[in-house]
Amino acid sequence: MSQQLGTLEDLPEDYRTAMTEAGVAPLWPMMRNVLPHDAPNPVTKSGHWAFDAVRPLLMRAGELTPVEKAERRVLVLSDPGRGTGAMQATSSIYLGMQLLLPGESAPAHKHTPSAARIIVEGTGGYTVVDGEKLPMEEGDLVLTPGGDWHDHGHDGSDPVIWLDALDLPLFVYLEGSYAIEGELQAQRNRPDASEVEYRAAGLAPSRRLDSSVRRYPMMRYPWVKTEAALRQMAKYGDDGIAELDYINPETGQDVLPTMGFTAMMLNAGQIDSPPLRSASAAFHVVRGRGTSVVNGQTIHWGPKDTFTAPVFADITHTAEEESFLVRVHDRPLQDKLGYYEERAK
Ligand SMILES: [Fe+2]
Repeated sequence: MSQQLGTLEDLPEDYRTAMTEAGVAPLWPMMRNVLPHDAPNPVTKSGHWAFDAVRPLLMRAGELTPVEKAERRVLVLSDPGRGTGAMQATSSIYLGMQLLLPGESAPAHKHTPSAARIIVEGTGGYTVVDGEKLPMEEGDLVLTPGGDWHDHGHDGSDPVIWLDALDLPLFVYLEGSYAIEGELQAQRNRPDASEVEYRAAGLAPSRRLDSSVRRYPMMRYPWVKTEAALRQMAKYGDDGIAELDYINPETGQDVLPTMGFTAMMLNAGQIDSPPLRSASAAFHVVRGRGTSVVNGQTIHWGPKDTFTAPVFADITHTAEEESFLVRVHDRPLQDKLGYYEERAK
């Protein structure tokens, strides 16, 4: 049963002053703020970043700020609920659009938060993670797990742009966020694991009892393979939307500890109205065009756009043409904390 709780103003002035001096405060006037009934009351608001609007600003940053002055040349996608400059797009997900120009490199570092990139534009860029050179092609998902050294380089002739997704807000909140700088890594002279050990789903290197497996065995998920798999799912899968989760090929678990990635294909005219999920989400449009309604707010999206949804958002996607989206979400974190939930609409 819900009942009206007492307010701060109900209390005598001298008592309030005495409490402040003692460094204490009454819980009851604030309790509903931190424990609202039935569902959270998110600060996060749905945001939409049209690539057509962000790209010119990013290119201008390329003229104004040499990469040596920026280290990482990034424009942060700030949650409208927290305001421009907020270092987060949802409660737990940071998003930034990064530009690397031909010939540029970004120095090696490692940090406590985990990151993943979805490549938005350009060819010839690469990330080196833990000595493994990961080419970056449009739509690829590239992981830079927390604690792993990574640097970027660019051998191509056109700008390369990618979307960074990090669990940074979580680490900032925990006062656990920091980075260590290092020298550029020596690269192993071989293709990445997606082209060697994990070329085909269902096959992994044979193990001996004493062999060890890297915690993050595959750090690049080439878009060409994802798209081909989605197309087969759309053609032959059960009814519904073709959706594929990115998983660690050795464990079948999520690719990173707190962030999950799910690729989705919508045919022209197809509508997706998922249940209300307790996870927050960012949607990146790899290709296509359509409309999404998020908590009553209509977002018209096009190729390479990014938009977000807070926890428990009521979302309906409608594709105007064949569309591919990647959803970044914090379901793995919520699973670990034991409260991930889906509610029927
Ligand atoms: Fe980094």
